[in-house]
Amino acid sequence: MTLQPITGRTALTVPDGPRHARIHGIGGYRPERVVTNEEICRHIDSSDEWIQQRSGIIERRFAAPDETVVDMAEHASVKALEMAGVSADQIDVILLATVSFPYQTPAAAPLLAIRLGADDPAAYDISAACAGYCYGISMANDMIRAGSAQFVLVVGVEKLSDFTSPTDRGTAFIFGDGAGAAVVGPSDFPGIGPTVAGSDGHNWDKIVQRQAWTDLRPAMDHPQPGQETPTWPAIEMQGQSVFRWAVFSMAPVAARTITAAGIAPEDLDAFVPHQANMRITDAMVKALKLPEGVAVARDVATTGNTSAASVPLAMSRMLEAGDIPHGGLALQIGFGAGLVYAAQVVVLP
Ligand code: UT7
Repeated sequence: MTLQPITGRTALTVPDGPRHARIHGIGGYRPERVVTNEEICRHIDSSDEWIQQRSGIIERRFAAPDETVVDMAEHASVKALEMAGVSADQIDVILLATVSFPYQTPAAAPLLAIRLGADDPAAYDISAACAGYCYGISMANDMIRAGSAQFVLVVGVEKLSDFTSPTDRGTAFIFGDGAGAAVVGPSDFPGIGPTVAGSDGHNWDKIVQRQAWTDLRPAMDHPQPGQETPTWPAIEMQGQSVFRWAVFSMAPVAARTITAAGIAPEDLDAFVPHQANMRITDAMVKALKLPEGVAVARDVATTGNTSAASVPLAMSRMLEAGDIPHGGLALQIGFGAGLVYAAQVVVLP
């Protein structure tokens, strides 16, 4: 297709894309080390019973000290590429969603490209916390349909153990580490429904790093005698407020997503919400009146809350276990710090 010039000068050439896109392959990676509630409770005044009752979390995984966000992203991406039958050099764009790559700049995605042996792809990170992966799927879908990419690798990866204070009672038991990845490419049928996404910046401070990096600077550049050592700006959360927002605001978003896709709840094979808290998942299932036959992701029990990684980790595990059918319909929704959210119905790879 060629654009008509407005001014009479040379016309621009722009690409045409395929009508549809879908997820061709998905993969997950969980670090080896299992961290029990008992281990978490060595540093906070809590109990295994309280953690299980309030969050549904039994255990989570922590990456090894020298295991990086890029290492975990690589493992998950290799699995997703294998399932898709797509080679790394076919990837045009890498979108890596994370809030725990410990560099403000550069992004992690170009390093992942090198690791995978991808051929000079566009590569950048997305900062949308627990909604990052679903934002990435939306962007990949649009890129492919617009003709600006053929295959896009979308990764959600977190090493939240680096950004969580083990002595913070409000977060220490929640977060875990891991990675999930999906290969998105052209399709003969609609494989990714309309994305419903939004943000509520009024509640920006509800899940937030304790300090800005720049707040640390005076103490580091000009240390004063007797002054406290600057603390690592770990993530803090006003749990109850976020809980209420998730329960009351995210079920309507999920319902709008089902409607936007032109389907009914009974058409779904799977519901894969962000794995924040089992009670949030239960409340959403109830509010959506999901029929019993819809398989619900409950990965939070053994993986904890892995933010951007939680949706693809849960979905890949359910597929591997045979709990949900290849080619079936899944509603996925991510929500978290920002506050931001994104949801879409996808055809399972
Ligand atoms: O991923 C991004 C999105 N994140 C989320 O969606 C997380 C949303 N929030 C949550 O999942 C929940 O708020 C938590 C699991 C974090 C906390 O559960 P809660 O039921 O909201 O607890 P709460 O903060 O309302 O505290 C209830 C009680 C309080 O005691 P009192 O005042 O009732 O005597 C707390 O002091 O539990 C106490 N408490 C704890 N007790 C044992 C708070 N934290 C703990 C703890 N262990 N770790």
